[in-house]
Amino acid sequence: MSKILAIESSCDDTAASIISGGKILSNIASSQKIHEKYGGVVPELASREHQKNIMHVVQTALDQSGISKNDLDAIAFTQGPGLLGSLLVGVSFAKAMAQGLDIPIITVDHLEAHLAAHFIASPAIALAAAGPEFPFLCLLVSGGHTMIVKMDNETDFQVLGRTTDDAAGEAFDKSAKILGLPYPGGPLVDRNAKGGNIKAFHFPEPDVPGYDFSFSGLKTSFLYFIRDHVKADPDFVQKHMADICASYQHRIVTYLLSQLHKASEETGIKQIGISGGVAANSYLREMLKAKEQELGWKVYIPAFEYCTDNAAMVAMAAKFKYDAGKFAGPQQIAQPEINFPDLSNILN
Ligand code: KG4
Ligand code: ZN
Repeated sequence: MSKILAIESSCDDTAASIISGGKILSNIASSQKIHEKYGGVVPELASREHQKNIMHVVQTALDQSGISKNDLDAIAFTQGPGLLGSLLVGVSFAKAMAQGLDIPIITVDHLEAHLAAHFIASPAIALAAAGPEFPFLCLLVSGGHTMIVKMDNETDFQVLGRTTDDAAGEAFDKSAKILGLPYPGGPLVDRNAKGGNIKAFHFPEPDVPGYDFSFSGLKTSFLYFIRDHVKADPDFVQKHMADICASYQHRIVTYLLSQLHKASEETGIKQIGISGGVAANSYLREMLKAKEQELGWKVYIPAFEYCTDNAAMVAMAAKFKYDAGKFAGPQQIAQPEINFPDLSNILN
């Protein structure tokens, strides 16, 4: 029964998890609050925080799992994409520890990990215990990425479409910033939208061919919309916060789902999932569930704690690679710009 330690440090969460025989035994994360006042992640501060936190996070993950480091069979880490300084902390730590214990390493792509989140058995979502059937279509929506991925099995991926500019998470975060909300604004737009009218304001639906996405036009229209209304009434945002958030969120979510719908219709795949930080959005979760009835989809949404960055999803992806014998050589380095899926031979 494989016992793997997984480390995630691609952005601003220092996280570690232990998986044993496919079961997550611990999932520890230390989120960096330091970036809030800057309105976005400051790379140098992020890597310093990882440096401070990593020992403690890994030790807590081991302690909570009841597994000794000497019983580990492999150590996995997020290789990329992400911030170089942040990745370097996790990569160096994992490689040094694996070398010290004389056990193999497993490299995991951050996006592959978000997809693997669907296969983590979770008592909260009974369906997830079984995991989706293949082929499986997943909308991967995070702060840095937006794509529709077809999974043919646990380790074979095909990207059908991706964003040509901003990610969905950025569309949320940048609108939140315009509204004067702190970073990361996605969850705050979600919260403020509760009780708001989705039809109060109209934002144009982006028009991009195929299964690709674009959010930059939507973001600009939001900026001009707020600028013009605030000019006429300086209290506009305060007076209409719920309606603004609900209408804007509605546009992002309906746009994401219309592209996903197109991909489902044209591929004939009805096993559908969402993952990544934006999959934590309550309106997206609700709308996707509604599609289950309407379109005969079988919908998979990872438990909330496995949507935003975490190490359990890295551990799950690592378990698949362990079972497939996909280990990595010691010369593997952090790859901040790695292009998902990386088709190069990982056994080097
Ligand atoms: O996957 P993630 O934790 O990190 C990246 O890999 O980027 O995603 C973070 C993104 C941020 O843009 C954040 O605002 C967004 O996910 N997010 C949300 C919600 N929770 C997190 N966006 C909308 N609604 C939410 N509830
Ligand atoms: Zn992520």
